[in-house]
Amino acid sequence: MNVLDSQLVTGQLRAMGYRFVDDWRGASVVLYNTCSVREQAENKVYSRLGELGIYKRDHQDVVLGVLGCMAERDGVDMLRRFPQLDILCGPGELDKVPLLIDNAVKTKLGARMDAAESAGGGGGLTAGGRAALQGNKHRRSSTLAAAEDQLELLDLSRSFSPDDYSGSAYVRITRGCNKFCTYCVVPNTRGAEVHRAPDHIIDECKRLVDAGVVEITLLGQTVNHYHYDHGASVTIAGVQQPQVGQAVSGPGRGAGTRLTTFADLLDRIHDEVSGLSRLRFVTSFPRDFGDDILQVMADHPRICRYLHVPAQSGSNRMLELMNRGYTVEQYIDLLDRARAYLPGVEIAGDLICGFPTETHEDHQATCDLLRRAQYKNCFVFKYSPRPGTAAITRFQDDVPDVEKKRRNNELLAIQSGISEQVHSRYVGRTVRVFVESVSHKAAKEADASSGATVTLGWEKPVTQLSGRTDGDLIVVFDGEPSLIGSIVQVRVERSAPLTLFGRLVEQAVIA
Ligand code: 5AD
Ligand code: SF4
Repeated sequence: MNVLDSQLVTGQLRAMGYRFVDDWRGASVVLYNTCSVREQAENKVYSRLGELGIYKRDHQDVVLGVLGCMAERDGVDMLRRFPQLDILCGPGELDKVPLLIDNAVKTKLGARMDAAESAGGGGGLTAGGRAALQGNKHRRSSTLAAAEDQLELLDLSRSFSPDDYSGSAYVRITRGCNKFCTYCVVPNTRGAEVHRAPDHIIDECKRLVDAGVVEITLLGQTVNHYHYDHGASVTIAGVQQPQVGQAVSGPGRGAGTRLTTFADLLDRIHDEVSGLSRLRFVTSFPRDFGDDILQVMADHPRICRYLHVPAQSGSNRMLELMNRGYTVEQYIDLLDRARAYLPGVEIAGDLICGFPTETHEDHQATCDLLRRAQYKNCFVFKYSPRPGTAAITRFQDDVPDVEKKRRNNELLAIQSGISEQVHSRYVGRTVRVFVESVSHKAAKEADASSGATVTLGWEKPVTQLSGRTDGDLIVVFDGEPSLIGSIVQVRVERSAPLTLFGRLVEQAVIA
């Protein structure tokens, strides 16, 4: 979600003539797009702001901004704590970033002129005129959200220049979240769940494909909750407005109804955006994931056999305290249904360890779930108490950090063995790979001197490329960088816990 937000803001600024530089030291405007989900991520931003504060002592004209969830969560406190900040802008107001930059520049100019007048020239800048825009703190009603939702315009106005995409793009279908998991800041920072009109989504997908995109990832915090009620849609100034809705999945969807469910949306995109080679979506919520969605995936070969479905815990007691709204048994049922409908589907998960009151038994239940789930990979997080969440007020963070680390490592060790097995099953098979980039590992090894190209005396230079299968497994193989952004066939020769290594099958570029 944050990557897409950054792309939309940069696209907007580029269209207005801003240029982007590699090193922030050469920039007139420095913007950080931030995440509040865990404390560690926030601490990194605070330390960067400290660095920028020192830099700004000698470069007062530089405009410094914090965008995204930290701006929303920390609000004006952040402006007080970091006088070097000029702009704060929450995720619900990102369409206003150019205006905020403009204002900051004018304020600086104004302050300089005032200072020049009063001091007879030369003066410094005042700290006044700083702007903070937050939108989602007060979760708005559906009608207000629909009427005020300027953010839809940001999605609609995205740049479709082929230069902006290397074959893959994100498309937001739902913003915000209504789940209120007790540990999570997202419902506060990103606001209520709002669904975009299907016609807008499909139009955006078509324009991306026209710009050369071959893979689209649909985004939502709980992507399978997507639901658009055409009977209740509101049009303002010719623009169909996004709307708040309940998850609908299962019987009752489809032609003749005035609803577009997530299954309907997948179906429509698959059929109406025929030039698209790959359609994926993240992140799925374990409840409200009906067989209708699995059936559409099974019927449509261009929809990737990949699900990211966070379980968070394998203990029903923990799931209840987390307010997740499902049981371990229901979660396992979803995995089983997915594997029955979609043979070969790959599944990834998220787990939190050390949630308040988590006992040894609760943790063992999570280990059991992890063994049962057979994920291709799993992100494991140590519980981090976040301001503004229900958990921080309701529960004491009573699992010591050393114990959180121990549980974290145990879960990672179990998953590593499973990942190794999952990946090893691919050896000897030929897989379709979307080529993403020059392999990081190769790029690192080759260092700055020669990029990721290795020359062995008389041989032709070889570049290691990295891409993903349609089950989201990472594949590394030798090939020409010109293949980046296309889909190729690779024969897998060996595997590691998180990577497949293979050989390009001819130059079989599929898309
Ligand atoms: N502490 C630890 N992990 C968290 N996550 C979200 N909030 C917290 C928190 N307070 C994890 C969840 C979620 C992922 C994006 O981050 O596992 O799925
Ligand atoms: Fe956070 Fe829960 Fe919503 Fe995911 S579903 S964004 S964890 S509140």
